[in-house]
Amino acid sequence: MPEPRPIPLLDLKAQYAPIREEIRAAIDRVADAQYFIGGPEVEGLEREVAEYSQCSFGIGVTSGTDALLVALMAIDVKPGDEVITTPYSFFATAGSIYRLGAVPVFVDIGLGDYNIRPELIEAAITDRTKAIIPVHLYGQMADMDPIMEIARRHNLVVIEDAAQAIGSEYKGRRAGSIGHFGCFSFFPSKNLGGFGDGGMITANDAALAHKARLLRNHGAEPKYYHKLVGGNFRLDALQAAVLRVKLKYLDGWTAGRQRNAARYRRLFVEAGLAAEDDGPSTIDHRPSSIVIPIEEPDRRHIYNQFVLRTARREAIIAVLKERKIGNEIYYPVPLHLQECFAACGYKPGDLPASEQAARETLALPIYPELTEEMQVAVVEAVAAAYKA
Ligand SMILES: Cc1ncc(COP(=O)(O)O)c(C=O)c1O
Repeated sequence: MPEPRPIPLLDLKAQYAPIREEIRAAIDRVADAQYFIGGPEVEGLEREVAEYSQCSFGIGVTSGTDALLVALMAIDVKPGDEVITTPYSFFATAGSIYRLGAVPVFVDIGLGDYNIRPELIEAAITDRTKAIIPVHLYGQMADMDPIMEIARRHNLVVIEDAAQAIGSEYKGRRAGSIGHFGCFSFFPSKNLGGFGDGGMITANDAALAHKARLLRNHGAEPKYYHKLVGGNFRLDALQAAVLRVKLKYLDGWTAGRQRNAARYRRLFVEAGLAAEDDGPSTIDHRPSSIVIPIEEPDRRHIYNQFVLRTARREAIIAVLKERKIGNEIYYPVPLHLQECFAACGYKPGDLPASEQAARETLALPIYPELTEEMQVAVVEAVAAAYKA
């Protein structure tokens, strides 16, 4: 039998090939202008991402991590302040809180959308709470209306971690447009990925946007006159030029990811591995089957990741590895159990849904260039693990 063709988790070469000339022309444009820091490319991207995200302001920054850091600095988060967030996210969400001397307070997730459960937030609020950071995990937005309502009632700031969620929607409103700040990442594996690190802060409030803009550049206004202590968190023009080209293709790529998600859904159901409708957010699952991603009815899921949940993860990973099919666990250790947060005092069992997700989730290839044939091979591999 011939060796199976490897199926990577993400194939950025396939994305690049059809837009190669356009991207190279954009890079040339920056090289010819020799305008590398700030300038028209960065300002253009800021305008375009803000508009795409239904926001008034965009502030280009060095990474999604720094977008979170600058947003927290802009609301004067200080040592001893508390910031409520989800334990089931990439490290940066909580790391940026901790770096400022503040305390991440973790509130558990729902096992349907893997996002923070609004009904658990209020019990975590104290007189030191300053902000809430919901994360729109895997490309599906958190339940924002109740989160905003709680924040209003307690006078808290909401910072949306939209690193995985550019273009996703909640009741027709885009990620980054509902909270006081939205924080985006252009890490290469994101749906809108640069040729290196990059990020963006969005805001609708002019004063908050202005403060974030100052902090991004050492708090200077005008140059060499420092009103605040910020840092060098500037996005560079080469990244902006590449991202502006890619932004034009983003909706097409998102449609490809959504088509692939629907196809996986059909294939998993046909294989008898998943139920047609796995029900609402907090459902559990039978050990004999997998839970495929649940799309909440009022959301636009942009599928940065297609993540299943299964009690047989190790067996599936073994077959995928053997068949050279890319996969990843996002994330194996929930944030409240990370070694570096030991001082926060959490222990196993404190946030059971996050801990279960960390034990059972597995991301499969979902990139737009994936073919039906490749998806059939992925589903067959998963099915083989259930037969073993
Ligand atoms: C949810 C989440 N938050 C924050 C980040 C940080 O973004 P970056 O890698 O651009 O610093 C990422 C991406 O890696 C992420 O997935």
